[in-house]
Amino acid sequence: MTRYEGNRGRGAFPEEWDGGDAATLLPAHATQAAELAALDAGLGELYDRAARGLAGAGSSAELASRSTQVMGRERGVITALLAELPDLPIEERKRLGGGYNKAKRWLAEIEAAKRAALERAADRPDALDVTLPGRRPWVGHRHVLAQIRDELLDLFHGLGYSVYTSPEAELEEYNFTKLNFPPDHPARDAHDTYWVDDRVLLRTHTSPGWVRAMEERKPPLRLVFPGRTYRAEQVDASHMDQFHQLDGLFVDRHVSMADLKSTLNTFARSIYGQGVKTRLIPVYFPFVEPGAQMDVSCVNCGGSGRSGSSRCVVCRGSGWLEVLGAGMVHPNVFRAVGYDPEETTGFAFGMGLERIAMLRHGIPEIRLFLENDQRFLRQF
Ligand code: PHE
Repeated sequence: MTRYEGNRGRGAFPEEWDGGDAATLLPAHATQAAELAALDAGLGELYDRAARGLAGAGSSAELASRSTQVMGRERGVITALLAELPDLPIEERKRLGGGYNKAKRWLAEIEAAKRAALERAADRPDALDVTLPGRRPWVGHRHVLAQIRDELLDLFHGLGYSVYTSPEAELEEYNFTKLNFPPDHPARDAHDTYWVDDRVLLRTHTSPGWVRAMEERKPPLRLVFPGRTYRAEQVDASHMDQFHQLDGLFVDRHVSMADLKSTLNTFARSIYGQGVKTRLIPVYFPFVEPGAQMDVSCVNCGGSGRSGSSRCVVCRGSGWLEVLGAGMVHPNVFRAVGYDPEETTGFAFGMGLERIAMLRHGIPEIRLFLENDQRFLRQF
C-alpha cells in the first residue's frame, strides 16, 4: 500500500466528481498515466482520477475548487505527498519524487487547458448549439375568407373579369336609388342599414360598385366587385352585421340569360365541384329583370336530402342550397348611369363569401370569421 492512500482522509478529493476526457485537453494523457502507473499503481490511479476530475469541471469555479483539492498549497493531495518525501528512505524518495512532480506538472497543464476551454465557451454566450431543435419562426397565412375571395378572383380573372373596388361608406343614391330600389322598398328600412348621416350609409351589398363603374366607363364591361358589406341584423349563428360579398357584372350588346347561366355553371363547378347540379329560380331584386336565385345541389347529401336514415342537416332535406342572386341588369339601372337600354344588355350576380367558406369547411357559426381566434383560423 502506498502512502498517499493513507492521505485520502485529509487531503483526498471526492470520488463522485463528474469525470471528463483528459485526453482531449492533453493528448499525451494516456501515455503519461501509464508511465505513472508503471512507476506506482496507486500513483497512476490517483493521477488518472485527478485528471478526469479537472477535465470534467463544469465551470471556472468548479475547476478552481477541484484544482485546490488536488494541488492546493495547504491541503492538496499531491502537495501532501511531496511533503512526506523527506521522511522516506532515499531510494523511495528518488523513485516517487520524480513521479509526484510529473503528476503535478501534467495536472497543472490539464487545468490550464481546461481553464482556457471554459473561457472560450464563456466568451461566446450565444454559441450555436447545433444539436438543439430549431425554433420555427411563426408564419402567418391568409384568412379563410381571403382565400375564398382570391380563389374567386382567380376564377373570374380566367373568364376575363377585372377587379373594381368601391367605398364601404356609400351614398344612399348608389346603394339604393340608382339601383332602382323603389322609395318604399323594405331594404331601405333604417333597421337594415347603418347610416353615417342623412345621405351616407354603410353599403348593404357590393352592387353599388356597378353604378360607379358604369358611370366611369363605357361598355363593354366585365368586372367583379369584392368587398365588405353591412346590415343592421340581429346577430345569430348565420347572421352578422358585417359580411363579405362578390358581385359580377357583364355588360355588352346582345348579352343573354344563356351567357349568365353558362358563367354561373362554370362558377358552381369550380367552387362546389364538377358534379354539382344547378337551378335558377325566379326571385325579385329591383336591379335585375328577370331576377333569379341560383341553387346548387347540396354539398353534404349530393341532392338526396337525406344523410343515412335522417334528414340532411345542411339543406334541411330539400337537396338544394341557395348560393347567389343574379339576373339581367334592369333597364332603369342602365338609364341611371347614362347607358342606352335599347343598345346595352348585361347580366349581374352577387354572392356571399361566408356562405361559401361555411359550406366548404363545415363551419357552423358565422361569428367565428371575425373573432380572430387563432385556434379557429389556423385550421384553414
Ligand atoms: N346585391 C344582391 C344582394 O346583396 C345580390 C344580387 C346581385 C342579386 C346581383 C342579383 C344580382 O342580395
